Amino acid sequence: MTKLNYWDATWSLDEAQCPCDLHFVEYLAQKGASNAVIFHFGTGNHHIVGLKMAENGSNCAVLGITASPQEYDDYVELLIKNPRLGHTYKAYFGDIYQLDARLLPEFDYVSLFHVGEFRTPDNDAYGALTDLEMTLMLADRTKPGGEILFFTGSFAYDKAQAVGKQLLEQRPFEPAGVYKSLQIFRKRSR
Ligand SMILES: C[S@@+](CC[C@H](N)C(=O)[O-])C[C@H]1O[C@@H](n2cnc3c(N)ncnc32)[C@H](O)[C@@H]1O
Repeated sequence: MTKLNYWDATWSLDEAQCPCDLHFVEYLAQKGASNAVIFHFGTGNHHIVGLKMAENGSNCAVLGITASPQEYDDYVELLIKNPRLGHTYKAYFGDIYQLDARLLPEFDYVSLFHVGEFRTPDNDAYGALTDLEMTLMLADRTKPGGEILFFTGSFAYDKAQAVGKQLLEQRPFEPAGVYKSLQIFRKRSR
């Protein structure tokens, strides 16, 4: 029987091994991001991106995705205890490789820190998008001047680099430097 390729695990914040979410929050603060629309791949059970952006007065809206039932349960619990969080932070459970462009707003920032880490032939069994197709879909939903960010510390960074190369060839994006562990690509303004 075909099953969703979900993540039967949970991830706590671990700055030494996986600082990407912390670097992302710092980067957004350094840029003075306010009222920005953010897509975040991989919430972790800590939900730090949604939480920090709700706490810091930036009024940024965060749409996070997790494929971990446990992490999604943690979001539900967080929201019940802290209903104000729900104004700006929405997390949902699903496979990022089943994104539907019709349901996506236009984003200022898209974090794709885990590109290539979890996509396997199990996703093919139900016709899921590839890493590149998913990235290009989000690239098309990125505003001019908006950014897509990859994590250079990912164990699948070689795959992210290959996707990044295609992003530059197939869409109007340009490299925009690095911030700590994050590689940034910016969409050209019209
Ligand atoms: C190693 S954890 C990292 C969490 C967080 N970004 C951090 O660095 O602390 C990987 C994250 O990717 C999510 N994930 C894995 N496969 C996914 C998929 N197919 N679609 C959406 N999220 C997925 C997991 O649910 C988890 O939140």
